[in-house]
Amino acid sequence: MTKLLLRALGGETLPTPPIWMMRQAGRYLPEYRATRAQAGDFLSLCYNPELAAEVTLQPLRRFGFDAAILFADILLIPQALGADLWFVTGEGPRLSTVTSAADLAQLRPADQIDATLSPIYETVRILSGELPRETTLIGFAGAPWTVATYMVAGRGTKDQGPAHLLKDQDRATFAALIDLITEATIHYLSRQIEAGAEVVKLFDSWAGSLKGRDFDDFSLAPIARIIAALKARHPGVPVIAFPREAGPRYVGFAKATGADCLALDNSVSAEWAAAELQADGCVQGNLDPRHMVTGGPELVAEAQRITRSLRGGPHVFNLGHGITPDADPDNVARMIDAVRSA
Ligand code: CP3
Repeated sequence: MTKLLLRALGGETLPTPPIWMMRQAGRYLPEYRATRAQAGDFLSLCYNPELAAEVTLQPLRRFGFDAAILFADILLIPQALGADLWFVTGEGPRLSTVTSAADLAQLRPADQIDATLSPIYETVRILSGELPRETTLIGFAGAPWTVATYMVAGRGTKDQGPAHLLKDQDRATFAALIDLITEATIHYLSRQIEAGAEVVKLFDSWAGSLKGRDFDDFSLAPIARIIAALKARHPGVPVIAFPREAGPRYVGFAKATGADCLALDNSVSAEWAAAELQADGCVQGNLDPRHMVTGGPELVAEAQRITRSLRGGPHVFNLGHGITPDADPDNVARMIDAVRSA
Protein backbone atom coordinates (compact mmCIF):
# COMPACT_ATOMS: atom_id res chain seq x y z
CA MET A 1 0.00 0.00 0.00
CA THR A 2 1.24 3.40 -0.91
CA LYS A 3 2.42 5.54 1.99
CA LEU A 4 -0.09 8.08 3.28
CA LEU A 5 2.11 11.13 2.64
CA LEU A 6 2.78 10.08 -0.96
CA ARG A 7 -0.95 9.58 -1.54
CA ALA A 8 -1.77 13.10 -0.30
CA LEU A 9 1.06 14.64 -2.33
CA GLY A 10 -0.22 12.73 -5.36
CA GLY A 11 -3.50 14.60 -5.03
CA GLU A 12 -5.66 12.12 -3.14
CA THR A 13 -8.31 13.39 -0.73
CA LEU A 14 -7.97 11.25 2.40
CA PRO A 15 -10.27 10.80 5.41
CA THR A 16 -7.34 11.50 7.77
CA PRO A 17 -4.38 13.62 6.66
CA PRO A 18 -0.79 12.40 7.05
CA ILE A 19 0.95 14.28 9.88
CA TRP A 20 4.50 15.51 10.42
CA MET A 21 5.98 18.62 12.01
CA MET A 22 8.58 21.19 10.97
CA ARG A 23 11.59 20.88 13.34
CA GLN A 24 10.13 17.64 14.70
CA ALA A 25 13.66 16.61 15.69
CA GLY A 26 14.73 19.43 17.96
CA ARG A 27 15.43 20.94 21.33
CA TYR A 28 11.90 20.44 22.77
CA LEU A 29 12.82 16.71 23.02
CA PRO A 30 15.13 15.66 25.90
CA GLU A 31 16.48 12.77 23.81
CA TYR A 32 17.51 15.27 21.08
CA ARG A 33 19.34 17.39 23.65
CA ALA A 34 21.17 14.30 24.91
CA THR A 35 22.29 13.21 21.42
CA ARG A 36 23.32 16.75 20.56
CA ALA A 37 25.45 16.91 23.69
CA GLN A 38 27.05 13.63 22.64
CA ALA A 39 27.83 15.04 19.17
CA GLY A 40 29.29 18.25 20.57
CA ASP A 41 27.66 21.10 18.68
CA PHE A 42 24.85 21.43 16.15
CA LEU A 43 27.04 21.26 13.03
CA SER A 44 28.92 18.21 14.33
CA LEU A 45 25.53 16.56 14.75
CA CYS A 46 24.53 17.46 11.16
CA TYR A 47 27.76 15.91 9.78
CA ASN A 48 27.61 12.74 11.92
CA PRO A 49 25.45 10.35 9.85
CA GLU A 50 24.78 7.85 12.68
CA LEU A 51 23.73 10.52 15.17
CA ALA A 52 21.84 12.64 12.60
CA ALA A 53 19.86 9.52 11.64
CA GLU A 54 19.26 8.83 15.35
CA VAL A 55 17.75 12.29 16.00
CA THR A 56 15.65 12.01 12.84
CA LEU A 57 14.16 8.77 14.19
CA GLN A 58 13.55 10.01 17.77
CA PRO A 59 10.27 11.87 17.12
CA LEU A 60 8.95 8.89 15.10
CA ARG A 61 9.44 6.54 18.04
CA ARG A 62 7.56 8.90 20.33
CA PHE A 63 4.76 10.06 18.07
CA GLY A 64 4.46 7.80 15.00
CA PHE A 65 4.52 10.62 12.45
CA ASP A 66 3.76 9.74 8.83
CA ALA A 67 7.01 11.31 7.65
CA ALA A 68 10.58 11.85 8.78
CA ILE A 69 12.58 14.87 7.64
CA LEU A 70 16.31 14.48 7.19
CA PHE A 71 18.20 16.13 10.03
CA ALA A 72 20.46 18.79 8.51
CA ASP A 73 20.26 22.55 7.91
CA ILE A 74 19.65 24.92 5.00
CA LEU A 75 22.97 26.65 5.73
CA LEU A 76 25.09 23.60 4.86
CA ILE A 77 24.94 24.67 1.18
CA PRO A 78 26.69 28.01 1.81
CA GLN A 79 29.28 26.14 3.85
CA ALA A 80 29.79 23.63 1.02
CA LEU A 81 30.21 26.54 -1.39
CA GLY A 82 33.05 27.80 0.78
CA ALA A 83 31.48 30.21 3.28
CA ASP A 84 32.56 29.93 6.92
CA LEU A 85 29.61 28.87 9.09
CA TRP A 86 29.23 28.67 12.86
CA PHE A 87 26.39 28.86 15.37
CA VAL A 88 26.42 31.19 18.36
CA THR A 89 24.51 29.67 21.29
CA GLY A 90 21.31 31.58 21.98
CA GLU A 91 21.77 33.78 18.90
CA GLY A 92 21.81 31.63 15.78
CA PRO A 93 23.93 31.23 12.67
CA ARG A 94 26.93 33.31 11.59
CA LEU A 95 28.56 33.16 8.14
CA SER A 96 31.31 34.93 6.26
CA THR A 97 29.52 37.40 3.98
CA VAL A 98 29.08 37.66 0.20
CA THR A 99 28.46 41.29 -0.72
CA SER A 100 30.35 41.80 -3.98
CA ALA A 101 31.31 40.15 -7.27
CA ALA A 102 34.78 39.58 -5.76
CA ASP A 103 33.28 37.67 -2.79
CA LEU A 104 31.13 35.63 -5.16
CA ALA A 105 34.19 34.70 -7.25
CA GLN A 106 35.79 33.16 -4.13
CA LEU A 107 33.03 30.54 -3.81
CA ARG A 108 33.31 27.01 -5.18
CA PRO A 109 31.38 25.86 -8.26
CA ALA A 110 28.00 24.23 -7.63
CA ASP A 111 29.18 20.75 -8.64
CA GLN A 112 31.93 20.71 -5.99
CA ILE A 113 29.72 20.66 -2.92
CA ASP A 114 29.81 16.89 -2.35
CA ALA A 115 33.21 17.06 -0.66
CA THR A 116 31.41 18.77 2.24
CA LEU A 117 27.93 17.26 1.91
CA SER A 118 28.60 13.54 1.40
CA PRO A 119 27.90 12.78 5.12
CA ILE A 120 24.38 14.16 4.57
CA TYR A 121 23.81 11.65 1.76
CA GLU A 122 25.03 8.93 4.11
CA THR A 123 22.44 10.02 6.70
CA VAL A 124 19.74 9.67 4.02
CA ARG A 125 21.00 6.18 3.12
CA ILE A 126 20.94 5.07 6.76
CA LEU A 127 17.43 6.43 7.22
CA SER A 128 16.04 4.85 4.09
CA GLY A 129 17.11 1.48 5.49
CA GLU A 130 15.78 2.09 9.00
CA LEU A 131 12.45 3.85 8.62
CA PRO A 132 9.21 1.99 9.31
CA ARG A 133 7.66 0.90 6.00
CA GLU A 134 4.71 3.31 6.30
CA THR A 135 6.91 6.36 6.96
CA THR A 136 8.02 8.66 4.13
CA LEU A 137 11.52 10.18 4.08
CA ILE A 138 11.65 13.90 3.22
CA GLY A 139 14.87 15.56 2.05
CA PHE A 140 15.17 19.34 1.92
CA ALA A 141 17.10 22.46 1.08
CA GLY A 142 16.61 26.17 1.55
CA ALA A 143 15.22 28.05 -1.45
CA PRO A 144 17.82 30.31 -3.11
CA TRP A 145 16.41 33.63 -1.83
CA THR A 146 16.33 32.49 1.80
CA VAL A 147 19.83 30.99 1.61
CA ALA A 148 21.09 34.18 -0.07
CA THR A 149 19.67 36.35 2.75
CA TYR A 150 21.95 34.52 5.21
CA MET A 151 24.97 34.55 2.86
CA VAL A 152 24.75 38.29 2.23
CA ALA A 153 24.03 39.35 5.81
CA GLY A 154 26.23 36.74 7.47
CA ARG A 155 23.42 36.04 9.94
CA GLY A 156 19.65 35.94 10.33
CA THR A 157 17.95 39.33 9.96
CA LYS A 158 14.44 40.60 10.73
CA ASP A 159 13.91 42.40 7.41
CA GLN A 160 16.57 40.79 5.17
CA GLY A 161 17.92 44.32 4.68
CA PRO A 162 21.45 43.44 3.47
CA ALA A 163 20.15 41.06 0.77
CA HIS A 164 17.63 43.67 -0.40
CA LEU A 165 20.42 46.24 -0.56
CA LEU A 166 22.68 44.07 -2.72
CA LYS A 167 19.71 43.14 -4.95
CA ASP A 168 18.83 46.81 -5.43
CA GLN A 169 22.39 48.14 -5.83
CA ASP A 170 24.01 45.35 -7.87
CA ARG A 171 21.28 43.20 -9.33
CA ALA A 172 23.67 41.31 -11.64
CA THR A 173 25.87 40.11 -8.76
CA PHE A 174 22.83 39.24 -6.67
CA ALA A 175 21.29 37.30 -9.60
CA ALA A 176 24.58 35.44 -10.09
CA LEU A 177 24.57 34.45 -6.40
CA ILE A 178 20.98 33.20 -6.76
CA ASP A 179 22.03 31.20 -9.85
CA LEU A 180 24.93 29.59 -8.00
CA ILE A 181 22.70 28.58 -5.08
CA THR A 182 20.05 27.32 -7.53
CA GLU A 183 22.57 25.06 -9.31
CA ALA A 184 24.00 23.80 -6.02
CA THR A 185 20.51 23.06 -4.73
CA ILE A 186 19.59 21.03 -7.82
CA HIS A 187 22.77 18.99 -7.35
CA TYR A 188 22.25 18.57 -3.58
CA LEU A 189 18.59 17.49 -3.82
CA SER A 190 19.35 15.10 -6.69
CA ARG A 191 21.97 13.43 -4.50
CA GLN A 192 19.50 13.22 -1.59
CA ILE A 193 16.94 11.57 -3.89
CA GLU A 194 19.56 9.12 -5.22
CA ALA A 195 20.38 8.25 -1.59
CA GLY A 196 16.72 7.50 -0.78
CA ALA A 197 14.75 10.72 -0.14
CA GLU A 198 11.19 10.09 -1.40
CA VAL A 199 9.99 13.71 -1.27
CA VAL A 200 11.89 16.98 -1.15
CA LYS A 201 10.92 20.29 0.42
CA LEU A 202 12.19 23.79 -0.40
CA PHE A 203 12.12 26.23 2.52
CA ASP A 204 11.69 29.84 1.37
CA SER A 205 11.30 31.15 4.91
CA TRP A 206 11.81 34.80 3.89
CA ALA A 207 9.74 34.78 0.67
CA GLY A 208 7.32 37.22 2.31
CA SER A 209 9.80 40.09 2.15
CA LEU A 210 9.98 39.97 -1.67
CA LYS A 211 7.41 42.05 -3.52
CA GLY A 212 6.25 42.33 -7.14
CA ARG A 213 8.88 41.53 -9.75
CA ASP A 214 11.43 40.65 -7.05
CA PHE A 215 9.14 37.90 -5.82
CA ASP A 216 8.87 36.52 -9.36
CA ASP A 217 12.61 36.76 -10.06
CA PHE A 218 14.04 35.55 -6.76
CA SER A 219 11.45 33.31 -5.09
CA LEU A 220 9.21 31.90 -7.81
CA ALA A 221 11.64 31.58 -10.75
CA PRO A 222 14.52 29.81 -8.93
CA ILE A 223 12.07 27.43 -7.25
CA ALA A 224 10.49 26.68 -10.64
CA ARG A 225 13.94 26.04 -12.10
CA ILE A 226 14.90 23.65 -9.29
CA ILE A 227 11.63 21.76 -9.58
CA ALA A 228 11.88 21.49 -13.40
CA ALA A 229 15.43 20.10 -13.14
CA LEU A 230 14.46 17.62 -10.40
CA LYS A 231 11.37 16.45 -12.32
CA ALA A 232 13.51 15.88 -15.43
CA ARG A 233 16.02 13.78 -13.48
CA HIS A 234 13.70 12.13 -10.99
CA PRO A 235 10.17 12.02 -12.36
CA GLY A 236 7.62 11.06 -9.76
CA VAL A 237 9.44 12.51 -6.74
CA PRO A 238 7.04 15.07 -5.23
CA VAL A 239 8.20 18.52 -4.19
CA ILE A 240 6.77 20.63 -1.35
CA ALA A 241 7.37 24.39 -1.63
CA PHE A 242 7.17 26.70 1.40
CA PRO A 243 7.07 30.35 0.32
CA ARG A 244 6.49 31.50 3.88
CA GLU A 245 4.35 34.61 4.32
CA ALA A 246 3.77 34.92 0.59
CA GLY A 247 0.15 35.89 1.42
CA PRO A 248 -1.78 36.53 -1.82
CA ARG A 249 1.24 35.29 -3.80
CA TYR A 250 0.42 31.76 -2.61
CA VAL A 251 -2.33 31.84 -5.27
CA GLY A 252 -1.01 30.25 -8.46
CA PHE A 253 2.40 29.46 -6.88
CA ALA A 254 2.02 25.68 -7.19
CA LYS A 255 1.05 25.90 -10.87
CA ALA A 256 3.76 28.43 -11.69
CA THR A 257 6.55 26.43 -10.01
CA GLY A 258 5.39 22.86 -10.61
CA ALA A 259 5.28 22.17 -6.86
CA ASP A 260 3.11 19.20 -5.87
CA CYS A 261 2.25 20.75 -2.51
CA LEU A 262 2.25 24.22 -1.00
CA ALA A 263 3.23 24.50 2.66
CA LEU A 264 1.27 27.24 4.43
CA ASP A 265 2.42 29.50 7.22
CA ASN A 266 -0.09 30.35 9.93
CA SER A 267 -0.89 33.83 8.65
CA VAL A 268 -3.29 32.41 6.05
CA SER A 269 -6.52 30.73 7.09
CA ALA A 270 -7.26 27.11 6.29
CA GLU A 271 -10.68 28.16 4.96
CA TRP A 272 -9.03 30.58 2.52
CA ALA A 273 -6.53 27.91 1.45
CA ALA A 274 -9.37 25.45 0.82
CA ALA A 275 -11.10 27.98 -1.43
CA GLU A 276 -8.09 29.48 -3.21
CA LEU A 277 -5.32 26.89 -3.29
CA GLN A 278 -6.53 23.33 -2.90
CA ALA A 279 -7.98 23.11 -6.42
CA ASP A 280 -4.36 23.29 -7.68
CA GLY A 281 -3.19 20.39 -5.50
CA CYS A 282 -2.14 19.43 -2.02
CA VAL A 283 -1.67 21.96 0.78
CA GLN A 284 0.33 21.43 3.97
CA GLY A 285 -0.20 23.14 7.30
CA ASN A 286 -0.87 25.17 9.22
CA LEU A 287 -1.32 25.09 13.00
CA ASP A 288 0.31 28.00 14.84
CA PRO A 289 3.36 26.51 16.64
CA ARG A 290 2.52 28.48 19.82
CA HIS A 291 -0.25 25.91 20.48
CA MET A 292 2.56 23.39 21.10
CA VAL A 293 3.56 25.58 24.04
CA THR A 294 0.14 26.61 25.36
CA GLY A 295 -1.84 23.39 24.73
CA GLY A 296 -5.31 23.13 26.27
CA PRO A 297 -8.69 23.03 24.54
CA GLU A 298 -7.60 25.68 22.02
CA LEU A 299 -4.94 23.35 20.62
CA VAL A 300 -7.55 20.62 20.04
CA ALA A 301 -10.11 23.05 18.59
CA GLU A 302 -7.61 24.65 16.21
CA ALA A 303 -6.11 21.35 15.02
CA GLN A 304 -9.61 20.03 14.33
CA ARG A 305 -10.79 23.21 12.62
CA ILE A 306 -7.81 23.07 10.21
CA THR A 307 -8.32 19.36 9.55
CA ARG A 308 -12.04 19.82 8.82
CA SER A 309 -11.53 22.93 6.71
CA LEU A 310 -9.10 21.16 4.39
CA ARG A 311 -10.87 17.79 4.32
CA GLY A 312 -12.40 18.43 0.89
CA GLY A 313 -9.05 18.09 -0.90
CA PRO A 314 -5.50 16.78 -0.54
CA HIS A 315 -4.00 17.90 2.80
CA VAL A 316 -0.90 17.18 4.89
CA PHE A 317 -1.25 18.29 8.49
CA ASN A 318 1.70 20.31 9.85
CA LEU A 319 2.54 23.43 11.81
CA GLY A 320 2.75 26.83 10.11
CA HIS A 321 6.44 27.03 11.13
CA GLY A 322 8.90 25.06 13.26
CA ILE A 323 8.07 23.78 16.75
CA THR A 324 9.92 25.90 19.33
CA PRO A 325 12.31 24.66 22.06
CA ASP A 326 9.83 25.65 24.83
CA ALA A 327 7.09 23.35 23.42
CA ASP A 328 5.66 20.56 25.60
CA PRO A 329 6.08 17.14 23.93
CA ASP A 330 2.73 16.05 25.44
CA ASN A 331 1.04 18.69 23.28
CA VAL A 332 2.40 16.99 20.16
CA ALA A 333 0.64 13.77 21.12
CA ARG A 334 -2.55 15.77 21.84
CA MET A 335 -2.32 17.43 18.43
CA ILE A 336 -2.00 14.07 16.66
CA ASP A 337 -5.00 12.64 18.57
CA ALA A 338 -7.04 15.73 17.73
CA VAL A 339 -6.28 15.51 14.00
CA ARG A 340 -6.92 11.77 13.80
CA SER A 341 -10.24 12.06 15.66
CA ALA A 342 -11.48 15.21 13.88
O1 CP3 B 1 12.67 20.12 10.58
C1 CP3 B 1 13.52 19.31 10.98
O2 CP3 B 1 13.39 18.64 12.03
C2 CP3 B 1 14.72 19.02 10.09
C3 CP3 B 1 15.90 19.74 10.33
C4 CP3 B 1 15.95 21.23 10.05
C5 CP3 B 1 16.72 22.12 10.84
N1 CP3 B 1 16.73 23.34 10.25
C6 CP3 B 1 17.43 21.74 12.07
C7 CP3 B 1 17.86 22.80 13.00
C8 CP3 B 1 15.42 21.99 9.00
C9 CP3 B 1 14.46 21.56 7.90
C10 CP3 B 1 15.92 23.32 9.14
C11 CP3 B 1 15.63 24.40 8.18
C12 CP3 B 1 16.14 25.75 8.44
N2 CP3 B 1 17.32 26.12 9.02
C13 CP3 B 1 15.49 26.92 8.02
C14 CP3 B 1 14.22 26.98 7.22
C15 CP3 B 1 13.00 26.74 8.06
C16 CP3 B 1 12.68 27.81 9.03
O3 CP3 B 1 12.89 27.57 10.25
O4 CP3 B 1 12.20 28.87 8.62
C17 CP3 B 1 16.28 28.02 8.42
C18 CP3 B 1 15.96 29.48 8.21
C19 CP3 B 1 17.44 27.49 9.05
C20 CP3 B 1 18.61 28.25 9.58
C21 CP3 B 1 18.79 28.03 11.02
N3 CP3 B 1 19.19 26.84 11.59
C22 CP3 B 1 18.60 28.97 12.04
C23 CP3 B 1 18.14 30.40 11.84
C24 CP3 B 1 18.91 28.32 13.24
C25 CP3 B 1 19.00 28.94 14.60
C26 CP3 B 1 17.66 29.16 15.19
C27 CP3 B 1 17.37 28.10 16.21
O5 CP3 B 1 16.28 27.53 16.14
O6 CP3 B 1 18.24 27.90 17.06
C28 CP3 B 1 19.23 26.98 12.94
C29 CP3 B 1 19.59 25.93 13.91
C30 CP3 B 1 18.82 24.64 13.84
N4 CP3 B 1 18.49 23.98 12.69
C31 CP3 B 1 18.39 23.87 14.94
C32 CP3 B 1 17.79 22.70 14.44
C33 CP3 B 1 17.22 21.53 15.20
C34 CP3 B 1 18.63 24.20 16.40
C35 CP3 B 1 20.06 23.84 16.63
C36 CP3 B 1 20.39 23.40 18.02
O7 CP3 B 1 20.31 22.19 18.32
O8 CP3 B 1 20.83 24.28 18.78
